Amino acid sequence: MRIGVLTSGGDCPGINAAIRGVCKSALNHYGMEVIGIHSGFEGLLTKEVDVLDESSLSGLLSQNGTILGSSREQPFKRGGIMPDADKPALIKKNIQDLRLDCIVCIGGNGTMDTAAKMMALGINVVSIPKTIDNDVWGTDTTFGFDSAVSVATDAIDRLHSTASSHKRVMVIEVMGHKSGWIALYSGMAGGGDVILLPEIPYNITNVGNALIDRIKKGKSYSIVVVAEGIKTSNSRKHAGEYIAEEIEYETGIETRQTVLGYIQRGGAPTSFDRNLATRMGGHAVELIANQRFGRMVALQGNKISSVDIRDVAGKQKYVSDRDDLIVEGRRMGVCFG
Ligand code: F6P
Repeated sequence: MRIGVLTSGGDCPGINAAIRGVCKSALNHYGMEVIGIHSGFEGLLTKEVDVLDESSLSGLLSQNGTILGSSREQPFKRGGIMPDADKPALIKKNIQDLRLDCIVCIGGNGTMDTAAKMMALGINVVSIPKTIDNDVWGTDTTFGFDSAVSVATDAIDRLHSTASSHKRVMVIEVMGHKSGWIALYSGMAGGGDVILLPEIPYNITNVGNALIDRIKKGKSYSIVVVAEGIKTSNSRKHAGEYIAEEIEYETGIETRQTVLGYIQRGGAPTSFDRNLATRMGGHAVELIANQRFGRMVALQGNKISSVDIRDVAGKQKYVSDRDDLIVEGRRMGVCFG
């Protein structure tokens, strides 16, 4: 078989480990040919491709980003490159010209939507979920998440000392798109006193009261972790900036804010993410070898398995109010808004 592999959407730690997992398993175990498609779905429109062989795979486990490049091109939506072309038809033709039996799509929610539409067009697809946000439905975890949480936790650790020296409230905004996984996991690992997630509506007076209560208990400083996707009444401000201003106004406590941003997508992947990406890459090829197209590889419990891509498309995985970390956090006095 001859398979294509592409990476689409925001990059994240572990993508190269997944590409390596796909390629090594396809080349060594199944005797397949692998074609790397450049810049996500753009490469399927422009036919910008390369053969991936053993010589392309050195040093990938620890290397961040994606050797194939990525883009946010969504060929079934308006806009993007080649706006006047019939992009779905062009993709189908290019896949036939390239003699590809299946496309491995490594991506997040947008990629899963596109993959489902490709299946409906009769194109064989297997997908692998990746994102720092951990918001893909059907899998317990995506690779990239653990690495991003470890970067965010390290940043929160570093804020404690300066918060303490100056007796300040330090607000840190972390990524996560519309879900609060990174904020919850880094906030709890970093000992956040207030953690605000898009999934839990907050009341700024409650937040202010929680911070004043801490001062009354002799705690001279506080850490507030804010997910970028929380609702605010000022869309031109970062969520962290908005919350810091509101806290200072509400409490009079000197407050500073940090927006962590793209640093969360950089650096070498954690060993957990490398191994998850490797397992997922290998399993994608097993699905192809068994002609089980239309599946997204998933981690369920500690087992690698798969779900129907059509069940994933259009959904998002949110933090539940009953998540263990929230239940325990509340018991320990963390304010969730
Ligand atoms: O999906 C990953 C992510 O980093 C989100 O956390 C963030 O909201 C978004 O991508 C940023 O997107 P872009 O790279 O297009 O600026």
